[in-house]
Amino acid sequence: MKPRLNVVLVASAGLLLAAASICVQRAGAVKTNCFPELKQNEDPGRERCEQRKCEYEGQQSDNSPSCLWTRGGYIVSSVTENTNTQYSAVLTRQQDYNGPFPGSRDLDELRFSVKAISDNGLRITISDLGGVRYQVPKEALNIPEPGPTNPDATVYRWEANTSSSLLDVYQKTHPDQAIMSLLKAGFVFSDQFIQLSLGLDCQNIVGFGEHNHERLVHDRRYKRWSIFTRDASPTGPGNIYGAHPYFVCTDAGKHMGVLLKNSNAIEVELTPDGIVYRVLGGILDFYVFMASSPESLAQTYSAAIGHPLMPPYWSLGFQLCRWGYRNITEVQNVIARNRAIGLPYDVQYGDIDYMQNTMDFTIDATNYPGLSSMVDDLHSHGQKYFVILDPAISSDVEMHKQVLPSQRYEPYHDGLTRGVYVKNLDDTVHEGEVWPGRTVFPDYTLSATQAWWERWVSDFYYNQSIRVDGLWIDMNEPASFTYEPHKPQNVCPNNTWNYPPYIPTSFIGDRFYEKTICMETKHNWGRHYDVHSLYGHSMGMQSYQTLRNLFPEKRPIVFSRSTFVGSGRYAQHWLGDNHSRWPDLHWSIITMLEFNLFGFPYNGADICGFVYDATREMCIRWTQLGAFYPFSRNHNIKEADGVRTRDQDPASWDAEAQKIMKDALFFRYKYLPYLYTLFHYAHTNGATVVRSLAHEFPNDTAAVRIDEQFLWGSAMLISPVLSPAKLSIRAYLPPEDGWYDAYTGEEVQETGLVMLDAPLEHINVHIRKGFILPWQTPSTTTVSSRNNGLGLLVAAKQLPNSNLKATGSLFWDDGESFETYTAKKFILHEFELSTDETSGNHVLVIRTPFNGYKDPNSLKFENITILGFDTSKDWSVSVNSEQHSEIRVNPNRKTLILDSLSLPLGQSHSITFAVRSAGTALASAVAVAICALLSTAVTGNNRWSLAI
Ligand SMILES: *[C@@H]1O[C@H](CO)[C@@H](O)[C@H](O)[C@H]1NC(C)=O
Ligand SMILES: *[C@@H]1O[C@H](CO)[C@@H](O)[C@H](O)[C@H]1NC(C)=O
Ligand SMILES: *[C@@H]1O[C@H](CO)[C@@H](O)[C@H](O)[C@H]1NC(C)=O
Ligand SMILES: *[C@@H]1O[C@H](CO)[C@@H](O)[C@H](O)[C@H]1NC(C)=O
Ligand SMILES: *[C@@H]1O[C@H](CO)[C@@H](O)[C@H](O)[C@H]1NC(C)=O
Repeated sequence: MKPRLNVVLVASAGLLLAAASICVQRAGAVKTNCFPELKQNEDPGRERCEQRKCEYEGQQSDNSPSCLWTRGGYIVSSVTENTNTQYSAVLTRQQDYNGPFPGSRDLDELRFSVKAISDNGLRITISDLGGVRYQVPKEALNIPEPGPTNPDATVYRWEANTSSSLLDVYQKTHPDQAIMSLLKAGFVFSDQFIQLSLGLDCQNIVGFGEHNHERLVHDRRYKRWSIFTRDASPTGPGNIYGAHPYFVCTDAGKHMGVLLKNSNAIEVELTPDGIVYRVLGGILDFYVFMASSPESLAQTYSAAIGHPLMPPYWSLGFQLCRWGYRNITEVQNVIARNRAIGLPYDVQYGDIDYMQNTMDFTIDATNYPGLSSMVDDLHSHGQKYFVILDPAISSDVEMHKQVLPSQRYEPYHDGLTRGVYVKNLDDTVHEGEVWPGRTVFPDYTLSATQAWWERWVSDFYYNQSIRVDGLWIDMNEPASFTYEPHKPQNVCPNNTWNYPPYIPTSFIGDRFYEKTICMETKHNWGRHYDVHSLYGHSMGMQSYQTLRNLFPEKRPIVFSRSTFVGSGRYAQHWLGDNHSRWPDLHWSIITMLEFNLFGFPYNGADICGFVYDATREMCIRWTQLGAFYPFSRNHNIKEADGVRTRDQDPASWDAEAQKIMKDALFFRYKYLPYLYTLFHYAHTNGATVVRSLAHEFPNDTAAVRIDEQFLWGSAMLISPVLSPAKLSIRAYLPPEDGWYDAYTGEEVQETGLVMLDAPLEHINVHIRKGFILPWQTPSTTTVSSRNNGLGLLVAAKQLPNSNLKATGSLFWDDGESFETYTAKKFILHEFELSTDETSGNHVLVIRTPFNGYKDPNSLKFENITILGFDTSKDWSVSVNSEQHSEIRVNPNRKTLILDSLSLPLGQSHSITFAVRSAGTALASAVAVAICALLSTAVTGNNRWSLAI
């Protein structure tokens, strides 16, 4: 394949910009490093290289390794099955072929199998013949294999055992070149070191987690990332909280997603020609999905791993938290001052401060008296309360005697009795250290642990009367402070699990078990070495089940710091302990987009940053950005560098800052019906909620690398300011459909790469032509906004012959009952604006494909605003066949507004716009007067004030 040159020229306002050119090489020859234990660009030298029977290339300027593993040592010795939909073979190791690490035994024979699991998915496994090696248990993740609808229906085909590959996979639309190949060269399968190079013929790789990626599209200059759950801030290059060995690769109409279903420690190295996997255990179990667009690929993956939870409506509201509320008075003051400024604010949190000596299920009686009434007060104001729970259970009985009124920490003893804790090899309970000091760790992979966990959550809820609305589970990587870097004297036993033959150099820390528990410890699902990255996942599953049982009528909501593939069915994710630093704003967008691809549409970073002090400007810009995180929460650390951090809740800032933050959040609240509808599709179809421009405009090559902007669904584009002292930003508005300013309704004249005004009080939001967005007059809580009138923002797309077109939908239910969709207790509306070719009349219809819910607030559509309307003509409007005289037009903005409507939710409606015969007066005096008013409003001091 010839190198491809993507040169994008976008002329705009005198700007002429050329995007970087990107060259691609043919798939098939991944340069596999023969010395992965050395750091990038570290040269082993010719002698050591040749001792390992590798090829010495010498040091290279492109980061490629100097010593290459070019041999392949397993041959396909016998084929046991070979049909269109299934291929199985035995691989045999050549006599003289060994992995690089003598401590790890090479397997002589392997089972290799390929299976068509659906029309657009295949599964490839390479495992031991006997099938005794560890695999991710079915209880943790069960990917359905319905098989293809017929053997020819697959969008892919494969060829096994070619000269250089074990397997070549082709997307049928691109028959000339395999999109991916499992290369023979470099393949190693030993007990604790499996290496496979995947040749790729596609350019843009997005995904792998959890890390802090500084760019959305991966750098393929031999960059390595490790995947192993770990308690570390999302600021450096290492592995952090979750494990998502999944990437998508897109290029010129090709869209492929590849999951390696494996919970052991993994390292991936991204090279210009493909990806090298190095896996520390288990088996190779790849799932490959292909689709015709990024969004259909995302939906395919979501269906495979399980659709995400439907969040309660209130959880889309703004949320406040900090670590370091010293007593309940302080929390009450924060609640009171944020209510007093009229902040949209639905949820308050309690971090570990509320606990007695940071022990789960206890309340600090001295500093937090009356917590139960505080929670009741939140509820009476339509607000909600979450508490944090850590997995680690205090085991220090001497401390319990000192600090607990009963002198006994019952949850600990109950867990001992039931045998729920992770055990050492000799069956003693494994101890570590977390916030309360010495602790033990529940094994959430054991079903007995569910009953124990539920008992104590329930005790907290009923007996201690803390009526929490959800759970926030933290430190579940799992984190333990026993083996922190500054405690080298604390060591886990010297065995092959704690000291594996190969530790990826991209790991943070030197010791494999750093900041967690020892690797030989025993869980129901297996050895910690194998199940480590499933700890948060299993805790999420049991916490979900706990809430299901605690309030069966309601949707469970659990936030988990550590997640695995498929955790989105049980838990939501926040992006962890970020820093109050400007680059973190940008990085949060990237991780938010990735977690949408991983099946966690409900996610977001701590607004204004967790560690360190936020500055005023940063906190304002971050609140504007965070108003568009699906999970929108301001959270702060207790202290940094030994000093208490300043408060950063909106009310802690000056009046101007408060106003700007409130404006951004009121805008969010206004469009919650749109956001909620996106979540409905995420829950039922696996749709993404937040999307990159490249995801939504896959054929627009200029959009490929943009990661400073994002969309809500297909229709709303958010272009935040991410650095200080900016009054304008450079943004990309894809020219394909055209855009309107979300605040003024003005049509954007220039698309492509543009400069947008961005004074401090403004975050740019644009609405894509062709879409209809439902909204609701906002209020300070969702409980009260759900009583308000509904509206539609119709962003018309102008087609030839003055035809208009736009579509949209609204999902509505009570916002909190469990599974209203399957219980058929919801309303679905579809909206469509179109033009009748013969009469030239425009028609806006509100259809009701389903109505199984009666809203108690008698909601009505009261306001319909159409952008892109031909206001130079004189329109006669009829609503459900009745003449409607109250029409307002703004000719400058080509906007038509129908307010004082009263169209009940749940019923179908139709609005017709007909041009009056020529000669009729253009507009009534009323309309003219209102236009004048509108123009002043939009040209006045705050030109964006029309928003809310
Ligand atoms: C697989 O391919 C190799 C090399 O191309 C060949 O030597 C071997 O016999 C093949 N195996 C089978 C079972 O056909
Ligand atoms: C993008 O281009 C491909 C052909 O390369 C076409 O099949 C597809 O429909 C296009 N997608 C969009 C969203 O225009
Ligand atoms: C709560 O904590 C604050 C800050 O330490 C302190 O000033 C205040 O006196 C405390 N109030 C109560 C009731 O303990
Ligand atoms: C573990 O034991 C092996 C074999 O006795 C020894 O070579 C190695 O240095 C030990 N490692 C540690 C970290 O103690
Ligand atoms: C209807 O919505 C538009 C903006 O979409 C706004 O300008 C107007 O004031 C609203 N009318 C009412 C009565 O709320």
